[in-house]
This record gives sequence, C-alpha cells and structure tokens, in this order.
Amino acid sequence: LAFLNSLQTRDFKFIVPQFRRSGLFESLAHYQCRGVILCRSDEEVRLADGFIKLYLYGYGFERDSAILVHHDGQSFLNLNDCRLYDHLQEIRKGHGDIDVVAGQFSGASWHPTCYDYPEQVYQRISQKKTIIKFEAIARAIEAINARIFLPSSGPPCFLDPMLFHLNLEPINVFSRPPQLIRYLQKRFNRSERRHTLEVMEMMPGDVLDVTECNFAYKAQERLSEDGIEAYLRSYAARYEVFFRDRQVGCSSQHLDDILNRLREAIEYKLSLFELSHLVTTALYLSLHEAPDKMIRVDFQSRRVEIVSGVIDPNYYSLSTPSWQMERVLDGKMTWYNFSLTFRMRIKREPDVYVPLLHDFLLTEAEDLKQFCSEWLELEAKLEENGERITVEAGGCLYSVSRFCPHQGADLSEGWIEENRYLVCPGHWWRFDLWNEGRCEASHATINAVALEQDGAKPRIQAPQVAALRSRVRAQGVPR
Ligand code: FES
Repeated sequence: LAFLNSLQTRDFKFIVPQFRRSGLFESLAHYQCRGVILCRSDEEVRLADGFIKLYLYGYGFERDSAILVHHDGQSFLNLNDCRLYDHLQEIRKGHGDIDVVAGQFSGASWHPTCYDYPEQVYQRISQKKTIIKFEAIARAIEAINARIFLPSSGPPCFLDPMLFHLNLEPINVFSRPPQLIRYLQKRFNRSERRHTLEVMEMMPGDVLDVTECNFAYKAQERLSEDGIEAYLRSYAARYEVFFRDRQVGCSSQHLDDILNRLREAIEYKLSLFELSHLVTTALYLSLHEAPDKMIRVDFQSRRVEIVSGVIDPNYYSLSTPSWQMERVLDGKMTWYNFSLTFRMRIKREPDVYVPLLHDFLLTEAEDLKQFCSEWLELEAKLEENGERITVEAGGCLYSVSRFCPHQGADLSEGWIEENRYLVCPGHWWRFDLWNEGRCEASHATINAVALEQDGAKPRIQAPQVAALRSRVRAQGVPR
C-alpha cells in the first residue's frame, strides 16, 4: 500500500483475486484509481483487444493465483507458484498455445533448508527437489506449447546474518536462473517433440517483443553468476543495522511470557482442530534462547504442556528465535509466512512428512474449522470416486488411484521417473510402483497393483534394462 500510495498517476484498474479472505480487497476499497475489480477463479476481465483471466488455487494454508493475459493475438501466462500443473492441458484447450510463460522455479519451502540433516543428505534432498521442480516446469512448457519461458520469482536473497550462508551454499533448493536455463536447454535439445523454446532471464527494465521474439537488454544493472556474491554482500551490508537491532537480548521473564502466550495460542488452535485424532506424531515447539523449555503437543490426547525435553519416539521439533515467534503471536505475521522466514530449526523422527501436522501449525486459528471440513470433504470425495488409471513404467502396467491422496491432483497428468516412481503434478510427491504405490516421503499411497500382461505376471524390470519409454495414460479400469 505504501508503494501504491506513492504513485502520482493512477490511470489504472486493479484486479484482485477473490480469495477466501477479503483483506486485500478491503484494504484497496478506498484506494483512488480507476477501479478495483474482484475476480473469481476462471473469470475473464475483458480488455479492448483481449482479456485477463485469473486462476486461483486454494487449499489449507496454500493460496496462490496465476494470470493469463491475452492481448493483440498474443498470450502470456504467469504461473507464479500456483499449483495449476494438472490444469494446463485444459487451459491450452480453451485458449490455444501460450506464447510466453513465466513461473517460479526456485525453492520456497522449509524442507530441507530448516531441517537438521547431515550435509550429504541435505544436498541429496536439495538436488532431487531442484531437478523435480525443473522437470515440472519443462512439462508445463510442453503442456501449453510455450515459445518463450521466463524464469521468475526466485531465488530469495537472504540478508539476515542468521541466514546469509544460504545464499552461498554450493547445493541447496534455491537455484538461480542460469541453472534452470541449462537444464531446459539440455532437456529441449534432446526432446523428441522438437519443441523450440527460448528461455530468457529478464531483469527490471528489460523488454521482450513477443511477436518477433526479440529481447532488448535494457537493464543497466545486470547480475552474473560471478558477480552475485559481491552483490549480495553489499546488499546485506545495507541491512546490517536493521538486523542487529532485532537481536536485542530477552530477559528470562520475557521468554517465559512468550512461551506461555505460545502455549495458549497452540491450545486454542488445538481446540479448533477436529482432525487431531489422525495425528500420531507429537509436536515440540521451543525458543532458541530457552532450549530446555519445550511446548509439547499431544494430538491424540489433545494435550499441550511444557516439558524439558523430547519424550516421544515419533516427533517433530521446531525451534525459532523468540523475537520471531513474538511477531507471530502479535499478529504481525501469519503462521504460513513464518514458515517462509526460514528462521527455525526442525528435527523429526522418523524422517517422514506428516501433512496434517504441518496443516495444523501453518493454518491460522480462524481458518482451522474450515480447513478441517474441506479436508474431510476431499477425503470423502476421493474415497467415493475411487477412479483408477493404468500407468506404464519400465515396461510394466500398474493400476493406481487416479487422484493424489495428498490434495487430489490428477495423477494422469503426472510422469514416471526411474521407471518406478509416479510423480504427482501437484507437489511432486513420488509414489513407488515397486512398493504398492507408497509415497517415498509420507505414509500416503496410491495402492498400485501390477497388472497381468498377455496372460503373464509382469516382470519388474531394473531401470537400465527397461525397454519401453515410460509414460502415463489415463484409462478407466475396474477397481
Ligand atoms: S496433490 Fe500434493 S503431491 Fe499430489
């Protein structure tokens, strides 16, 4: 708003996605411009020679939108970080090939960045996540037959001294545009589909002529891979005082106050969380400055207490600086935005993702009731639907559930990796077809069953001898 209010000329209209909460729309209600348009998902706003269309994604604490601009015979789709991957075919069917697509390509989640892993494990997970994200982008480009891709919104610059090292790690999930560009160039050069693609790294001020596919490098300040460290160091130096002022010491009384407020906030959330009986992993929360006092959340007994250490074999523990937690408790930051600060250390035992525990922690208290009913609705829908598809991997056919047990993405839009994993287009969970369709990282399953082929049991083939190109195809088969 400060930026918008600083604008002298306001000869524009504002389009606001109609999310569940109306805060954004309300904050613009009195903004003086040519108008504020509230736009639902899939709704078109007409232009003189085209239209603008928004796509909204919203489940649990994840809310995002993508925008399609069609003007003068050209189209531009900014995917942002919106989970639209299983709708892209549909978008192409409705609007034809897309000329230019932009999308988020770098890490934006606390796994594995905030987890206490040995370095090799951290790097292995980071590498896997990076490649899977790059591949998802490549598939999105193919799905809408885009001519030009613009890497956008990433990676973050970590200016806080506590996190600055993340900028310089040789391997993590915060990839930079040149890495993605190299991946896409290689990937499309060997693509059998002869897809011609231009990938351009734009900087503020650059201009792209979409009709001619001409790119004008107009930005005066350009970042190269060689110059990035010096750039980040001088950028961080400008904020040194800002971050130093935040590190003011905290008396033990103040720490106790924060812990007690946190305990009350968690108790309140738990009272609204109707799915607690489904979480068998305990959650521990603590402050960096007081590691011996932990808030233990037992979802089964719906109990919250302060303990001096971990007493459960299955647990998640999260520790964060007191000032950071205070901002959440003061309502200056949502729980979800807190997760994106990366100012926390997390441990879990066993190393298995527990989605409902994350949902509980990162969803605002006022949204928890609705989250629970949406979750139950989705479960019932998946249960009732029961549709199955046949997928082929490494020369074998498998019958699997069509919709992902996580958030219901359509697995017929997924893909096969290493001749055995079916990757969901939603959040790229990998389901192991050699292990009854179990997810690698969580307890979810797509109940994979190997199918008979030519009257014989299919033989599971090792990836290196797999003869057939892996593919996924939607096909109704009896349950
Ligand atoms: S919908 Fe999230 S991984 Fe499938």
